[in-house]
Amino acid sequence: MEQKRIKIKEILNSKEIGAEVNVKGWVRNKRGNKQVNFVALNDGSTINNLQVVVDVPNFDEEIIKKITVGAAVSFNGKLVESQGAGQTIELTATEVEVLGTADPEKYPLQPKKHSLEFLRENAHLRFRTNTFSAVFRVRHALAFAIHEFFNKKGFYYMHTPLITGSDAEGAGEMFRVTTLDPVNPPMTEDGKVDYKKDFFGKETNLTVSGQLEGELGAMALGEIYTFGPTFRAENSNTTRHLSEFWMIEPEMAFYDIKDNMDLVEEFLKYLIKYALDNCMDDLKFLSKRLQDEEKGKKADEKSMELIEKLNFVLDNDFERLTYTEAIDILRNSKPNKKKKFQYLIEGWGADLQSEHERYLVEKKFKKPVILTDYPMDIKAFYMKQNPDGKTVAAMDVLFPGIGEIVGGSQREEDYDKLVRRMAEMEVPAEEMDWYLDTRRFGSATHSGFGLGFERLILFVTGMGNIRDVIPFPRAPKTAEF
Ligand code: 4AD
Ligand code: MG
Repeated sequence: MEQKRIKIKEILNSKEIGAEVNVKGWVRNKRGNKQVNFVALNDGSTINNLQVVVDVPNFDEEIIKKITVGAAVSFNGKLVESQGAGQTIELTATEVEVLGTADPEKYPLQPKKHSLEFLRENAHLRFRTNTFSAVFRVRHALAFAIHEFFNKKGFYYMHTPLITGSDAEGAGEMFRVTTLDPVNPPMTEDGKVDYKKDFFGKETNLTVSGQLEGELGAMALGEIYTFGPTFRAENSNTTRHLSEFWMIEPEMAFYDIKDNMDLVEEFLKYLIKYALDNCMDDLKFLSKRLQDEEKGKKADEKSMELIEKLNFVLDNDFERLTYTEAIDILRNSKPNKKKKFQYLIEGWGADLQSEHERYLVEKKFKKPVILTDYPMDIKAFYMKQNPDGKTVAAMDVLFPGIGEIVGGSQREEDYDKLVRRMAEMEVPAEEMDWYLDTRRFGSATHSGFGLGFERLILFVTGMGNIRDVIPFPRAPKTAEF
């Protein structure tokens, strides 16, 4: 096989009728008869398949038999105008080589719709389906757009450690990292596990956030961002939580909370626009998938069409309001008065549940919302304390269908206030000395936020379960493959 391999995306875009090319890919479907076979070939470069026409009598019968769904095949041939409906160009095969067979009795995927649950159990094969290949192409595009956005703005990509000795969010939901013998760990005299004898000579965990280290970078480099995996051992079995998820955390010196809000809105719009500009074939497919999925639903329960929804976010300013204003709205809302919320809003101070966030976004404002100035008791120690003495300069971005997609804040830059708050919240200051140095020397206003990457992908792809937008999901009792 001497001919140059060309990817299917390029073939379908350039439509070079008459060219002699080589294509390699996996068979998605095969139909036809004893005279002619039509093979739908996909190589991952696009959601679209290339139709390959095989004149059966020209080839060895044994080879034809091996062209089955799932097999990896290489075709040489000539690009011709297609007679069939649904495509404009197809390949007439002149040479065939079956690179890897897929026993039709055993190959789990058939050219039909499979349930997402079935595919989750066969996660290693999810990539071979239209839905997941579309999702993972969009995931790639968004990751690239994130780097592009920050690079254009002069932010530095900073790598923060995955193994850490501190609990950034103070929520205590961490996975321990240890090499101690789990059956007979070394003990101290007062009967506790002696972590001094552990690998790092102290207790270590997988990080829940790169923020604290990121702050050190920002207070010298100016503007940085992290983009890496984070780990949370919270026992949340929801469609919005993973135990291992990717987070993007920019941190900016000399930004206050208003600058932070402006940046997050510009950022999210940039990413959505990037997907619209670069992933339209996949988005169209995902839109249709969502519509099929919701066929049985009543009109008012259906989601907005996917591409319309993405454009809608681009075209509208995010609604900005304070937690206190939100509580007033929620307290007087219909579902609260009719006791439809699972958690009723009775007064100021309670944390918002996703049902409340979604009410604000989907029913009240019908667009993304940035909520600010939360009660300090429900937020992390590092947030900037407001002059009222009860709230902090926090900001959460809430999205339709998702709820919280971003959490962030202006940071407390005053050493004394920060240390006082750490004591109140029992954050061990002695272990955080390295962090407190940013407030001892050259402290300044600064802010940052964290975007949950998979929640963004959920929104952009219209998928319903966060486990379906990461190649190998980790969740409670789930760590397959
Ligand atoms: O609100 P969170 O906990 O904020 C932080 O970690 C801060 N250190 C961020 C910062 O200011 N630099 O998490 C940020 C975002 C959430 O808004 C959500 O989108 C996502 O991370 N997230 C999760 N995504 C998937 N699974 C989980 N278990 C998640 N927990 C948080
Ligand atoms: Mg949060």
